[in-house]
Order: sequence, then structure tokens, then C-alpha cells
Amino acid sequence: MKFISSNQNQLLSKIATNNGHGEDSPYFDGWKAYDSDPYHPTRNPQGVIQMGLAENQLSFDFIKEWIVNNPKASICTAEGANGFKDIAIYQDYHGLPEFRNAVAKFMGKVRGERVTFDPDRIVMSGGATGAHEMVAFCLADPGDAFLVPTPYYPGFDRDLRWRTGVQLFPVVCESSNNFKITKAALEAAYSKAQETNIKVKGLLITNPSNPLGTILDRETLRSVLSFTNEKNIHLVCDEIYAATVFNKPGFISIAEIIEEMECNRDLVHIVYSLSKDLGFPGFRVGVVYSYNDIVVNIARKMSSFGLVSTQTQHLIASMLSDDKFVDKFIAESAKKLATRHGVFTRGLAQVGIGSLKSNAGLFFWMDFRRLLKEPTLEAEMELWRTIIAHPKLNVSPGSSFHCSEPGWFRVCFANMDDETMRLALRRIKNFVIQAKGQQASAAKKQYGQSKLQVSVSFRRMEDLMMTPRMMSPHSPMVSPLVHART
Ligand SMILES: Cc1ncc(COP(=O)(O)O)c(C=O)c1O
Repeated sequence: MKFISSNQNQLLSKIATNNGHGEDSPYFDGWKAYDSDPYHPTRNPQGVIQMGLAENQLSFDFIKEWIVNNPKASICTAEGANGFKDIAIYQDYHGLPEFRNAVAKFMGKVRGERVTFDPDRIVMSGGATGAHEMVAFCLADPGDAFLVPTPYYPGFDRDLRWRTGVQLFPVVCESSNNFKITKAALEAAYSKAQETNIKVKGLLITNPSNPLGTILDRETLRSVLSFTNEKNIHLVCDEIYAATVFNKPGFISIAEIIEEMECNRDLVHIVYSLSKDLGFPGFRVGVVYSYNDIVVNIARKMSSFGLVSTQTQHLIASMLSDDKFVDKFIAESAKKLATRHGVFTRGLAQVGIGSLKSNAGLFFWMDFRRLLKEPTLEAEMELWRTIIAHPKLNVSPGSSFHCSEPGWFRVCFANMDDETMRLALRRIKNFVIQAKGQQASAAKKQYGQSKLQVSVSFRRMEDLMMTPRMMSPHSPMVSPLVHART
């Protein structure tokens, strides 16, 4: 049989062919580079280390212990097999009551039990990915927009926009005030959207932030909520990293703020999942928690397209109902994250590399601005390609998070074991030292050429070498990957 090969896309839908998934972005390119040459301690010790994946692998020893001690929680063990039939047959799309109760309780615990969550408002989805799309379908029509403070998680471009036709409109936040979400930035974005005749239906915030690893303070949350109320638009809060806060100050949920402030609760919605806090992204347990009855109702109907398997609900219900385990897990996981974060950020500080002060998440926001040849997005991409090719680390460039300033990189630190972490840190440090060495010789050469007879102190010399224009962090060893990409 002969197939028509030319312009196959004409046979497919616009959604299928519009590239809305975003797979061709640098964010996913880094993953591809990792996939084609993945680091392995014995099989491929020179391979690329994956530091672009926000995964929490540090606490699986606790989980394993619990699984071994609770065989009845699984329907695939001798102890749990009696429950197999009831779990395997069709269940209604509200979700198992014990699952919703356990998740609601967990959400409260993660927020220091300062707020409670109503299990009847919990709607299941396929991870937070499915939850975001569901919220977008419920709140907006094609062409409508959500404001999103930058830098933001690149997956939002896919989750909220691709199949819904909704747009995202950036609220530009800057490093000069640690990327704070200010009222002025919100107002500016809102007005700009209106000038272009875009109907703004809501504001999407991520607290704690991916990629910044910071949490929103009470004052910012209050101002964000009053902004959305004044404009009569929705506020969607992605709180997927709620339990990853590992240092003070503590996490404040929007659920607490709406208790303190007069507001229209119908406009407030929380997106949550167990992908980060528990470290189970493979289970695809996502949640929409809306304070709006109609949204709960509609989302529940839509959830038929992305239900969590009953087997998973059954296991999670049992695990999260174990208070002793959950309390220990939350505390120990935070400790492990704090240690990891500290090792990385202090290690980088030793070679003069700073990062945004952060206390949450599975990553930090590394400041490589001084290693750019020039302060442009092109220079950022060039540096990123070099980092993948030579020290062989997949860190994610700020531009993939829509960061308005070049030179920031997100570095994930919780998806590897201690050995890999030490190697990754060594590779970054060596890279920085080498880059500085090259800057030093470039600067010296420039001095020699200009034949300037000035005496320059070492400190001053280093300052000069660090000015972006004089930098050349690039290794003489240029990999085929870089050639292929440039
Ligand atoms: C802020 C944020 N929201 C949503 C998601 C998607 O999470 P899930 O794996 O639960 O779909 C991620 C994943 O990295 C994320 O960082």
C-alpha cells in the first residue's frame, strides 16, 4: 500500500500540529541532550548529569520502609489481594472517599494545620499538569488570558494553552527586587493585555516558586488577592511545592490568606499534586481544590479524562492516613532538602557563584550573569550549550522560564544520589574556575595589546575580568553537540 508522505499535517487537526506542546524549547532540548548521553557511574561516567528535572528522590528510604511494613496497602500482595476486585472494577469519578479524606488531611498538615480542606472540594486529575488544563477549561475561553509572573515553569505554556486555546500573559518580575510580584508589575501587565484587547480571566501564581525556590510572603499574597478581587478575575495558586520548604520563613498558603481577608472566594482555586512533596510524579496524582461550587462540579465532570487509577488512590489513602509516617516524612524530607541545597549553594559560593536566596523547592536559581559574553539571550543560549557540551550538566536556561534577564539558570538538586551530587558540584566548580582562568588570560592579552602602563591591583583585575564584555567562559574543547547546534 502507498502512503501520501507530503504534507501529512493537512490530514491532522490544528491542535495536533500547532507545536503547542513546546517540545522544541531549550527546556526540553536539555532533556534530549541528557537522554542521548546519560551519566551513569560505571557505564557512562563522562555522560550528561541531569540537573533539569525537578524530582524529589531524597526520601525514598522512608517510603520503602513504609511499603514493606504495610503490605495490605497494595492490592497486589498476599495481604492486600482480597481488596483487588473492589478496587479493579469501575469506581465513580468523585474518587474513593478515603483517598479524598487522606489528601485533604495531608494538604492541611503540609500547611502546618493552620487551615483545613474539605474533601468534597477535592477533584482528581492526572498530576498538576491535568489540573492546570482542567482549571483553564473551566475558567477561560479560547483567546482569553491568564497573567503569569515571570520567571515561570515552562510546562504552563503547554498545560494551560495548548488544547484550551487560552493565552498566557507575562507579569515581568526582575532581579533588582528578587523577582518580587509587585502591584505595579501586575497593573502594568493587566493594562498591556487590555490595550491589545486580550481578555484577562485570571492570575496564576506558583508558591513556592518554580524556578526561584522562594516563597511568597504574607504581604505579597494579600496584595495579589486584592488585585484579583479588584479586577474581578480568578486567582489560581499552584502550591505543588508546599512541603518542600526547608528553611524559615515558613510556607503561607492562599488558603490562610482567604481566611484573613474579605474576598470573593469563588475566584480562588488551588492546584496541587503529590509529584513534588511526596516525590511521586509517576503516580500522576493531581488535585484541583476550588472554593467555587460550580467549578468543583464542572471540574469533577471533566476529571473523567484524567482520573487517578483506583489502585493508586487506594495506596495513597492508606499511606497518607498514617499520621506518624506523614509527620516524620515531612520533617525528614525538609531536612534532606536543606542539606542538599546548602551543599550546592555553599559549594558554588566558594568559586564566586551566587544564587537567589531561597528556602524551598527542588532547585535553586543560579546567577551566571557574570559568565555571559554579553547580556543577551543569545549569549545565555551559547553558555547553556557550552555547559551541556563540556562540564556536561543539563541545567535549564532562564529564558526557558521566560525570565526577562539573561544569565540565570535553574539547577535541580534533589534528583540524584550523593555521589552524583558531588560529581556535579565538582564539574560546575571546575567549569567556573576554568572560565575565570580564560577570562584572566583574555583580559591580560587585552592589557598587553593596549600597552597600558597602569598598575592594577589583583582585586581590581578580577573585577575587570568579570565585566560581561570581557568574558569568555568557553572551553577550547568544543563538543560535536555544540557544532551540531550552532
Ligand atoms: C510549578 C509546577 N506545576 C506543575 C507541575 C506539573 O506537575 P505534575 O507532575 O504533577 O503534573 C510542575 C512540574 O514540574 C511544576 O513545577
